Order: sequence, then structure tokens, then C-alpha cells
Amino acid sequence: MIARRQFIFQSLTAGAGLGLLGLSSCSRAKVPSPTVKGEPTVISTWRHGLDANGAAWRILSDGGYSLDAVEAGVRVSEADPEVMSVGYGGHPDRDGRVSLDACIMDEKGRAGSVCFLEHIKHPISVARLVMEKTPHVMLAGAGALEFALAQGFEKENLLTEKAREQWEEWLNNAEYKPVINIENHDTISMIAIDAEGRISGACTTSGAAYKMHGRVGDSPIIGAGLYCDDEVGGAAATGQGELVMRTLGSFLIVELMRNGMSPQEACEEAVMRIVKKTPDYKDFQIGYIAINKSGAVGAYCLHPGFDYALTRRGNTELIDAPSLLQGS
Ligand code: GLY
Repeated sequence: MIARRQFIFQSLTAGAGLGLLGLSSCSRAKVPSPTVKGEPTVISTWRHGLDANGAAWRILSDGGYSLDAVEAGVRVSEADPEVMSVGYGGHPDRDGRVSLDACIMDEKGRAGSVCFLEHIKHPISVARLVMEKTPHVMLAGAGALEFALAQGFEKENLLTEKAREQWEEWLNNAEYKPVINIENHDTISMIAIDAEGRISGACTTSGAAYKMHGRVGDSPIIGAGLYCDDEVGGAAATGQGELVMRTLGSFLIVELMRNGMSPQEACEEAVMRIVKKTPDYKDFQIGYIAINKSGAVGAYCLHPGFDYALTRRGNTELIDAPSLLQGS
């Protein structure tokens, strides 16, 4: 059964970083307690992570491999036309074309990625094959499509009627201004630890709604949208990709955890790194999730409204991530 838990945050006196920025207070999370070593765990971004975690959990609870779990998990969102920020049914670019970005990473530090891929419903599975069957990490655009077709993927129309109608409506003003927490960058990012302690991650998106044709975001960039290190843990991002790319947020979080921070502290520091470098940061949403090898979990975002799904011991919770900014 799915329980929604609203965490109560305690407002603390400003931390050092906040003080420097002239911000008076921040919310600090009560984070879920660590799991027992050897206990499978999966976390993923946003409400659509609930169904995705379900698919991942079926594999993890059966003793399966975390890499299989994250691939199967995010494929659920990729196939769901109601998730309009990922895969089939995703918002198109300004020219009405759907292009997808995805990456995957395993416990050995291997990685595969595709970006600016059109016509293929499951970019995450193409990314996995880039990792497993090529000497490369990333394939882009026409080359990624050629590779996918050679691997037996089918060319499909990914623009649904609903997405086309919304795009046509958008064309009336054609103004590009991301709307906070509305499905425009709501990537699904997922990290799983299996019963053998192996950590894997996956990240897949249709990217920014009404982006320029050819735009690639953070999601397929190893270290930006996703990073896993089997010695430390994993981290993943959602939100305005450009801000994550400039700070290599997921890699940063893993390295901060390596140096002793908890997942929660590391997510907060990664958000603050963006704040320090981005004068208009309030115009954007960014959300991070992280898990360390002990199963401790953290999450943090700029604006309230970002949530993530956590599954372990067969229970799934949708958890509101604490935010730097308070609601308006
Ligand atoms: N985080 C997804 C994107 O900006 O493309």
C-alpha cells in the first residue's frame, strides 16, 4: 500500500552558505532512516516514480540485479503517455518533434547514454545497449537512432494527440518560460541497491518542453543527471537541466558523500552550489535524490513541490522533498 508522508521541517538558523547569500532561513529535512545492509532499496523522482518503483521492486524483491530493476522501472514511465515529460507522449520541442535523452550506470562504473534520440519509445534500453555492446558511452541523434534500429528497436511516432494539442496551444504565444513543478523537466531518475549491495541508476526524459530543436539536457550526461559509485552511493537529478549540467550535480553529491556528508547534506550542498552560481535561480526548479551504500536517503529541491518515491521492505512512500525556498 502506498502511504503519503508529509515531513514536517524545522526552520533552522541560516547555515554558512545561506548566510553568505543573505538568505535568512532554510528548511532541513527529517530524512528516512537508513535501511539494513543487504536490504534492497529503490528511490525515484516524482509521483510517476510510484509505478516505476513497483516494476523495479518486483525484480529486487526476487533477488534480481539492480541494473535490471532500474531499466524495468523507468520503462514504465517511458511507456506511459500520461507522463508528459518522459518517453512516449512527452512534450515536443518548439518544432513539434519529440527527442529523448537517457542514461544508465551500473555498479562497475560502466555507463551508457543516448541523447537527442527521436522515434524510439525506450531510450533507456538503447542506453543500456550502448553500455553493453559498444566501446562508447554516448550516442547522439541520427547515430543513436541508427544504432537502436540495428538492435531491433522499432521506429514509432512518439507525439500523442494530447501533446500535439498542447504544443499547438503553446505556439499561440511561443513564449519559453519553464513553469515550476509543471511537467516540463520532470525527468524520472531512479537509483536501486539490490540484495547483493550492487548499486545502479537510470535517468530518462523528453527534456525541457518546447526546447530548441537539438537541445540536450542533463539527463543523459553521466555525472550531471545521474552518477553511481559502488563504494559510495548514487545521486540523480530532475529539473532545469542547464543548472545541473553547469555544476555536475550528481557527481558532486556522490563526491560529497565520499567525503563524509550524509545524502541529505550532499543534496543540500549541490542545490546551494547552483544558487551561488545562478542569479535568477528562483525562476527554476531543481530536485536531487541520493542514497548511500548504507541505505540512507536524502533529497532536496529549490521550490516546494518536488517529491520522490522510496521503496523498501515492500512498502512504497511518496515523500515531499524539503526545499530551500518556501511556498508562495
Ligand atoms: N532534467 C531534464 C532536462 O532538463 O532535460
